[in-house]
Amino acid sequence: MAIDIQPGDEVITTPFTFIATAEVIALLKAKPVFVDINEQTCNIDAGKIAEKITSKTKAIIPVHLYGQMADMDEIMALAGKNNLIVIEDAAQAIGSEYKNKRSCSIGDFGTISFFPAKNLGAYGDAGMVITNNEGNANKLKVLRNHGQAERYKHSCIGMNGRLDTIQAAILLVKLKYLDKWIESRIKLAKRYTEYLKDYVKTPYVKDHNKHVFNQYSIRTDRRDDLFAFLKDNGIPTAVHYPRPLHLQECFKYLGYKQGDVPVSEKISGEICSLPMFPEMTEEQQDMVINTIIKFFKQ
Ligand SMILES: Cc1ncc(COP(=O)(O)O)c(C=O)c1O
Repeated sequence: MAIDIQPGDEVITTPFTFIATAEVIALLKAKPVFVDINEQTCNIDAGKIAEKITSKTKAIIPVHLYGQMADMDEIMALAGKNNLIVIEDAAQAIGSEYKNKRSCSIGDFGTISFFPAKNLGAYGDAGMVITNNEGNANKLKVLRNHGQAERYKHSCIGMNGRLDTIQAAILLVKLKYLDKWIESRIKLAKRYTEYLKDYVKTPYVKDHNKHVFNQYSIRTDRRDDLFAFLKDNGIPTAVHYPRPLHLQECFKYLGYKQGDVPVSEKISGEICSLPMFPEMTEEQQDMVINTIIKFFKQ
């Protein structure tokens, strides 16, 4: 809304993400254009974006999936060349880094989710938009408060997008611990990788990236059986995401069919997120690791 996306405009993003990324495009009656992902990182394949840019393209929304940033140099270069806005979906990636730059500091906008399961979670729903452009920031402030800059003077159609004060207070306290929690997630991730790398595909982290592991997601072609085995052994897992967005019923009107975005489709059948939270003890983690090894040795 802040960049005045119009009906019929096109916005490029990945289908291997939570619905919200593409939902906002569709809510503005613009068209989500899905670009496949890189098989290693599961982030948008920057090399496949150019072929999807048309005269209607207005923006690109890379998603920093699981807590690892997308290939921002390539994305920003394409955006600069084609005069496109870049909105970093960093819902899962607060604190992550790309070549020593933090998420949300590279694109025109960055968005963060404070949903309780995120690395910095509120005690309910909350979120934040980040921009380093004062004009954009002012527009966002008006939009989030029903389009009013002054009370009862509505210059545009906005919404109630305010952050509850109680959530802000909680987040300000929790923010102090964020770096420590991220370090703990990274340590746990290293340990998972060390013990599981011979059994499953462990997350691939690019050298220049600091991955903050909101999710630790492994891949195996025996995913559904592993998922059931872990569940039977009292270990909760989740699949992020079992059906890519181009195959969701709500996006049927876009006309995609099975096979159109093959890497996303393949990985949606293999991916599985393991328990991951900063307070996890080695003993708890060993239980997960040993159960997975038992599954593959049986
Ligand atoms: C990649 C991604 N984008 C957007 C969102 C939406 O965040 P929220 O539910 O806080 O609006 C989420 C939340 O799960 C997400 O994972």
